[in-house]
Amino acid sequence: MRHQIKVGVLISGGGSNLRAIFEACQTRKIDARVAFVGSDNPEVSGLERARKRRVPTFVVDYKAIQVQYSQHRQQMTLPADCNWKRLLKFQRLRPADTPHEALEAFFIPRLMAEARLLAYLRQQPFDLLVLAGFMRTLTPYIIDGINLDPHQPRIMNIHPALLPAFPGVDGYGDTFRYGCRVGGCTVHFVDYGEDTGPIIGQRAFRIDPGDSLETVRQRGLALEWELYPECIQLFAENRLRVIRKEYPLRGGRMVSRRVVEFVPRVYQKVIERGAVACGRSDRLEHQGDGHKGTHGAADIGKNDHQ
Ligand code: GRF
Repeated sequence: MRHQIKVGVLISGGGSNLRAIFEACQTRKIDARVAFVGSDNPEVSGLERARKRRVPTFVVDYKAIQVQYSQHRQQMTLPADCNWKRLLKFQRLRPADTPHEALEAFFIPRLMAEARLLAYLRQQPFDLLVLAGFMRTLTPYIIDGINLDPHQPRIMNIHPALLPAFPGVDGYGDTFRYGCRVGGCTVHFVDYGEDTGPIIGQRAFRIDPGDSLETVRQRGLALEWELYPECIQLFAENRLRVIRKEYPLRGGRMVSRRVVEFVPRVYQKVIERGAVACGRSDRLEHQGDGHKGTHGAADIGKNDHQ
């Protein structure tokens, strides 16, 4: 049997993407199994979906933490392992000139929720964390807590629009109201910004004059269910590499972006054989201690998120 990576999934809703991932695992379309499902909301039906399959679940109730914060602000402090200055330096969720109090109100309850999330995640070995309709943005605190090797990002998100167009919470709605003739969905690695990370895969569909927001959403979701498992499989095959590319613009200016490069399958076999020959077979015999790649040429660092 081929090696299966362990995938953790976070959801905030009905979990139709979660269902697609479950099915892809079950039918062996992907070399993966769902190790756990977490949510920010105890009520969501996606949790029931996981329980029926006897997959461990947990909830970190973000809303309850937010209420607690608004009532007992003075008593709430940062997680002990969170460096506030560093967080403010690297975060890209709020404009840099946001007043200090507003930054505290935005980040402190979120960080407290993330500390609880991290505590759960640390109990559950996983290779890849997949956000499947998880409607919370992640701060650098939890991202760095998960991406222990900054060269090997291991959090993916699916977004209901063709990024970089229409980031935010209502991708299909924004696409439809804008009058776009084409809609789509995007899977990307998560970085410090909102829906800004390196793009792994995209699917597009046509929007006709007779379409409604509902038909747009349905068409988009059907593509999401294909795209997400495909991107997870690329990760399972260790074929995703994030590199920094520099592009010259007219006038001599350079623009620099982190992008995902695919390692061709044939080349991947050579890398794996080389890794085994060198005694570095970590990606071939997972010990359940998180994701370690066999190729380390990626070009990102903790301080290097764009
Ligand atoms: C999807 O459209 C996804 O792109 C977005 O949230 C929705 C989640 O749907 N992030 P589901 O819970 O997987 O059905």
